[in-house]
Amino acid sequence: MTTMNAMAVHEFGPAENLIPTKLDLRDPAPGEVLIRIRAAAVNPADIGMREGRYAWPDPVRMPLVPGYDLAGVVEAGTDAFPPGTAVIGYTAHSQTQIGAYAEYTTLPERLVATAPTKLDWAEAAALPLAGLTAQTALHHLALAPGETLLVNRPGSAVGGFVVELARSRGIEVLTDVGDASGAAVDAALDVTGGATALAAFARVRDGGRYATVVPEFWIPGGQFTPARGIDPVTVFVNEAVGDLAELSRLAEAGTLTPRIAETLPLASAAEAHRRMQRGGALGKLVLLP
Ligand SMILES: NC(=O)c1ccc[n+]([C@@H]2O[C@H](COP(=O)([O-])OP(=O)(O)OC[C@H]3O[C@@H](n4cnc5c(N)ncnc54)[C@H](OP(=O)(O)O)[C@@H]3O)[C@@H](O)[C@H]2O)c1
Repeated sequence: MTTMNAMAVHEFGPAENLIPTKLDLRDPAPGEVLIRIRAAAVNPADIGMREGRYAWPDPVRMPLVPGYDLAGVVEAGTDAFPPGTAVIGYTAHSQTQIGAYAEYTTLPERLVATAPTKLDWAEAAALPLAGLTAQTALHHLALAPGETLLVNRPGSAVGGFVVELARSRGIEVLTDVGDASGAAVDAALDVTGGATALAAFARVRDGGRYATVVPEFWIPGGQFTPARGIDPVTVFVNEAVGDLAELSRLAEAGTLTPRIAETLPLASAAEAHRRMQRGGALGKLVLLP
């Protein structure tokens, strides 16, 4: 069996626990695609994963390769994705424990879409998790054209995609949270948590809609009491609600524009985690195998 290089944790802990690891390459089963990874985005969830704060439904298998997002080239494919096709992929890590911090991965077809030709590898790899989350959040908020949506962290990957998707659907987007005295909005999406989440909630009109993608700040019956006829929703990315192929088409059309802060070699995954935890990066950090 062929082996590949990956960055994996053998024991949960600090960034330096992410170490080079040789792993067996798995042959694709029928309906699966073997992808040579050209770029893997680093997401905030990868930090929790590496530290052991992540809630997988199944017992964790070590060594654990983090990473939800990838762009690459099909090595062994299917009718829909023949060898040589440039693709984006979403590893659905919480269910699969398959990670993208590696030279190769094998994914079922449903987690793969043709890559947009207008993006480079790093930009393409920044689409899946944040894009699927943005689509899932907008699905829950169910806004009609002309309604108003407040997004409290438009500079984040998820927030930025929500702004672009919502505007493309004729929704009026505001990004200045301000205070409760600002104009009331039909809906707010929280991408931050904490005080900014409360400020966004305060701006929603009575009977309006509110969703957060930051479950750490969700206290049922607590800070976001539904007293004003608002029923807050905690959004969890759902690849069956979102649509990878649509994300790719929208990026091709220039509607979705991923922002990249920096690319680093795959072997620098620990450094990428440290940089993300320091904060202040304007865009995604992306690993290049
Ligand atoms: N519910 C879901 O299914 C779902 C899916 C995807 C993302 N999310 C959440 O949505 C938020 C935005 O995600 P994103 O992909 O848009 O982020 P992003 O644009 O990639 O932002 C990354 C930034 O997050 C900040 N950060 C640093 N350490 C962090 C940590 N341990 N956890 C979280 N953020 C950290 C840093 O910025 P600053 O410190 O300078 O702000 C970093 O530059 C995150 O909280 C993420 O966990 C939820």
